[in-house]
Amino acid sequence: MIERLARAKVNLALAVVGRRADGYHELVSVFARLDLADRLSVEPAGDGDSLVVGGPIEYRPGVRDLVLRAAALVRASHAPDAAGLAFHLEKHIPMAAGLGGGSADGAAALDLTTRAWDVALTPDERLDLATRLGSDVPFMAADVDAALIRGRGEYIEPLPGPLDPVGILMVTSGAGLSTRDVFAAWDGLEAGHPTRRSAAGSGPETAERARALAAGLAVGWSAADVVSMATELRDANDLWPAASRLRPGLADLRSALEVHLGRPLVLSGSGPTLLALYPSGAAAETAATALTAVRISGLAAPAIRVATFARTAPREAP
Ligand code: C5P
Repeated sequence: MIERLARAKVNLALAVVGRRADGYHELVSVFARLDLADRLSVEPAGDGDSLVVGGPIEYRPGVRDLVLRAAALVRASHAPDAAGLAFHLEKHIPMAAGLGGGSADGAAALDLTTRAWDVALTPDERLDLATRLGSDVPFMAADVDAALIRGRGEYIEPLPGPLDPVGILMVTSGAGLSTRDVFAAWDGLEAGHPTRRSAAGSGPETAERARALAAGLAVGWSAADVVSMATELRDANDLWPAASRLRPGLADLRSALEVHLGRPLVLSGSGPTLLALYPSGAAAETAATALTAVRISGLAAPAIRVATFARTAPREAP
């Protein structure tokens, strides 16, 4: 049996800078890996691939599940005669939350499948399979602390994590939000304002903030440096107007959390997870404990989690 972690991500800035002919949207975004992770293992099975799910997050895999799709893609393109695989997924990352859980699982499955079947992929082949699995999967497959992402997710400029860990308090309220629905809502907001982004976000300005954060991480920012940008990052997710329109109550929840936590809340990806940034994991834990004691309308305690965004790999020599 072989196993590995599938780590979640947050988007600390997300600019939607255009819509492509194929319907996808061009992004400029800073992705950051967390220590919140699913655990995926695999062992050979007689015939057919299977997936069993356990862990604290309830999840019933369907035909679009990325673990089984990853195995099917590798088999179809590189290993037509390979035997079946039995996957076990321990789920800790909430689903459809803006934390990239499904994409992380897909990237982990790509890695485990190629290892189990001894398939050697070139970097281009790996990127191709990852992109076919989903827009966020190339970042997940890259196994980097952070990155400035462009295109629909296929252009990745790796970045080091901060010098010391940023504590991230995450609030994931209610059911998940479909990424497809949020982008469709963004299109709807854009349609009424074809020349600028006042309704659906402010692409170029948001992209500047993403680039500023990326430049900071590249030169070795500390956690405090990242946290000091939180006010700018609060309004640096162009999907916010679409997500908050699809999820009535999200804007009120954000306002209430900002009062209680005394700091700005950032939407991760297409939501609905909201993030508060702290200069250490311990500071985020303390805030989470205090928050669970407060009654906020629309917020149940299990929706509150803490993770860190840290530097896990030594910086590559220039
Ligand atoms: O790539 P993925 O399958 O994860 O994306 C789900 C949906 O989100 C896409 O079908 C598309 O509607 C939307 N999307 C987009 N632009 C992106 C990423 C996702 O429009 N960059």
